Amino acid sequence: MLADRSVDVHPTPQAPFYRAVGDEEEVFRAAAGGGLPVLLKGPTGCGKTRFVEAMAHELGRELITVAGHEDMTSADLVGRFLLRGGETVWVDGPLTRAVREGAICYLDEVVEARQDTVVVIHPLADHRRELALDRLGTTLPAAPGFQLVISYNPGYQSVLKNIKESTRQRFVAIELGFPPAEIEAQIVAREAGVGAETAEALVRLGNAIRSLDGSPLREASSTRMLILAGGLVAHGLSLRGAARSAIVQALSDDPDVVRALGELADAVLPPA
Ligand SMILES: Nc1ncnc2c1ncn2[C@@H]1O[C@H](COP(=O)(O)OP(=O)(O)OP(=O)(O)O)[C@@H](O)[C@H]1O
Ligand SMILES: [Mg+2]
Repeated sequence: MLADRSVDVHPTPQAPFYRAVGDEEEVFRAAAGGGLPVLLKGPTGCGKTRFVEAMAHELGRELITVAGHEDMTSADLVGRFLLRGGETVWVDGPLTRAVREGAICYLDEVVEARQDTVVVIHPLADHRRELALDRLGTTLPAAPGFQLVISYNPGYQSVLKNIKESTRQRFVAIELGFPPAEIEAQIVAREAGVGAETAEALVRLGNAIRSLDGSPLREASSTRMLILAGGLVAHGLSLRGAARSAIVQALSDDPDVVRALGELADAVLPPA
């Protein structure tokens, strides 16, 4: 299972940098205290993964991250029998490992997975706190410290329909959005290694794109994108050049939209 590239076990030796925007840390701490599962919602690149990494570190828990995808089966989460040297051995999946070890299991974009896969988490997400290992004929109680965290992006319409009420209602929901301009500029400056002025200009552009009326974009310019653009500036590219490559071109393939975003960038960003 460790060889599975969709699974990431995170020891996080150093505290990950996370700048809180609202009361999300308090809510998460309270949920963790009660062993309650958490549903994180927010657009791509708004800090969901970073937030979980920071909370896991603060709570001193191991973080096991699983990236959801549409071919994911419950065996990918729970485990399976594998043939090893002529013998059939049971190998725990990442969810089972987290349940045994009392880790935080972060199922990223779990809604990408089919319903019959998602259903295995139900008994873990309510008072039962147990995982059925059907293939082994046993039920595993969750170790203290085990916590389930799932994320999804409400912007993807089809996904909204996919997350069943019976799943959602088991979770404490935390909504993360893009931070207010001042905080986002601090994040961009720190993460990209650029000065305050550059970071502030990128955030102005990000917010101008986010507030476009009737935007044809599927996703708005994320904090991640602004950091990416900042990283280009830190390595010598002009601010406008960086915005073009990391933001404008990345957001759309439609020539008209790209042209309009380019004009917006030129209007918002200071000349080189
Ligand atoms: N509040 C924040 N504090 C510190 N860094 C942040 C914050 N928000 C975003 N970032 C930065 O933005 C980057 C992208 O965030 P992250 O990967 O957590 O997004 P995400 O919401 O998990 O996106 P996706 O849905 O695509 O997985 C992080 O690597 C981090 O550099
Ligand atoms: Mg993420």
